[in-house]
Amino acid sequence: MMGSRSYSPVDEEVIKELEQIFGPGNVSFEPGKIRAYSRDEVGEQFWDRDYLAEAVVFPETTEQVSSLMKLASKRFIPVTPRGAGTGLSGGAVPAFGGIVVSFEKMNRILECDPINLTATVEPGVITADISRAASSHGLQYAGDPCSGDASFIGGNVAENAGGNKVIKYGSTGANILGLEVVLPSGEVTWFGGKRRKDVTGLDFVHLVAGSEGTLCLVTKIIVKLVPLPECIVDLLVPFRTMEEAISFVPRILTEGRITPASVECMNRNSLEIVSRYTGTALPFQEAGAHLIIQLEGNDPEYLADEYERLGQICLSSGAQEVFVADNRNARDRLWKARKSIAEAVMAFSTRYAKEDVVVPTSEVPELMREVDRIGRKYGLDGVNYGHVGDGNIHVNFLMEEDRPDWKEVIESARMELYDATVRLGGTLSGEHGIGMKRRKYMRTFLDGAHIDLIRNVKKAFDPLEIMNPGKIIE
Ligand code: MLT
Ligand code: ZN
Repeated sequence: MMGSRSYSPVDEEVIKELEQIFGPGNVSFEPGKIRAYSRDEVGEQFWDRDYLAEAVVFPETTEQVSSLMKLASKRFIPVTPRGAGTGLSGGAVPAFGGIVVSFEKMNRILECDPINLTATVEPGVITADISRAASSHGLQYAGDPCSGDASFIGGNVAENAGGNKVIKYGSTGANILGLEVVLPSGEVTWFGGKRRKDVTGLDFVHLVAGSEGTLCLVTKIIVKLVPLPECIVDLLVPFRTMEEAISFVPRILTEGRITPASVECMNRNSLEIVSRYTGTALPFQEAGAHLIIQLEGNDPEYLADEYERLGQICLSSGAQEVFVADNRNARDRLWKARKSIAEAVMAFSTRYAKEDVVVPTSEVPELMREVDRIGRKYGLDGVNYGHVGDGNIHVNFLMEEDRPDWKEVIESARMELYDATVRLGGTLSGEHGIGMKRRKYMRTFLDGAHIDLIRNVKKAFDPLEIMNPGKIIE
């Protein structure tokens, strides 16, 4: 249960002021809407109670966001920012009620600048739309979270979202240069800009990236654009065991001398559940694990040489087969399977732990041995998949049996997973964030000095603690 804090309610007077700032059409108190905008993708069964906002607002300009924060400061009302609601940590759940700010109407791509290789966008732009807009310049935005067709870039910044191309291009933070922000006081300022280098003061751009909306509200984002490769090929490589698949990964870079755009893995249970969900199967469904390796380039012949060479290395390392997806349909089919695993888990199970641990890549094989051991010990199925090239595995422990103590059993498994993760030099979340869901585990991973520093940085930005309170730390 969250500690009680007595913020002021959204009363008649506040309602009037909100309507003045946003216009009546851009403020909602309707119970159905309030409920829908008080949720993200964390299943409601995981919360200890119903967390609901008192109002939802839909700003269209930075000035409105600034007025909102002035009002919230003056009246001591908590404010929770929200992107598309695709988050996986309860970051957009209003822990203390108050006002949810949905950025869906701040959804303009303001500029694509092919000289500086940047795009300037509002936070409500759907991530994949940035690449669509940049493609006419032969450019793309390389941030590629699994939910990129639905998630907002603002949410990606808040969570420092990772995704499928981190091995080559980095997480969201590595792909942004500048942020226009509204501080909790209502002041508007810029961190960074179109500059490629900047040591003028502290690096607030990369402090805000991943701060989960707890420091300020982001109202404009300058993202980096990179050349759009002319050809992309995905290899689907089944191995007998997860261990063989994982052990192969470093050889892509060392022997293959290739920096792939993605290296993803899926264990057998992942393929099984996703094929049940989508109604289609991938080849070698019964293999212990599959890798997806994405290569990109501009010269089709050069790329073909590269994947032939890599395919030979795969086969000499125990791969059962190498399937080449070099056309749009084949590639889409493959990625649909990969990107639907999370949905499949939620569709078929209500009793699961959905984890986002990350370890140094050298430790992934040992982590997976531990995951298997823990699953067997507690009688849980492991749907394990994810960004193996980054050491970031989504461990999902599922309980098939309907036991009344399922939460306790899964919690014990989770704690053993965390102990193993710490021992292997890993940490709690690689990309989904802490939010409300993982706050209570922070002390397992960070020491007191570190947590105090997070608290003090938060205070420096947000002395009244009205900015997405109840997230990251307790
Ligand atoms: C993914 O990699 O599919 C996403 O991070 C969502 C998830 O699996 O939890
Ligand atoms: Zn992921």
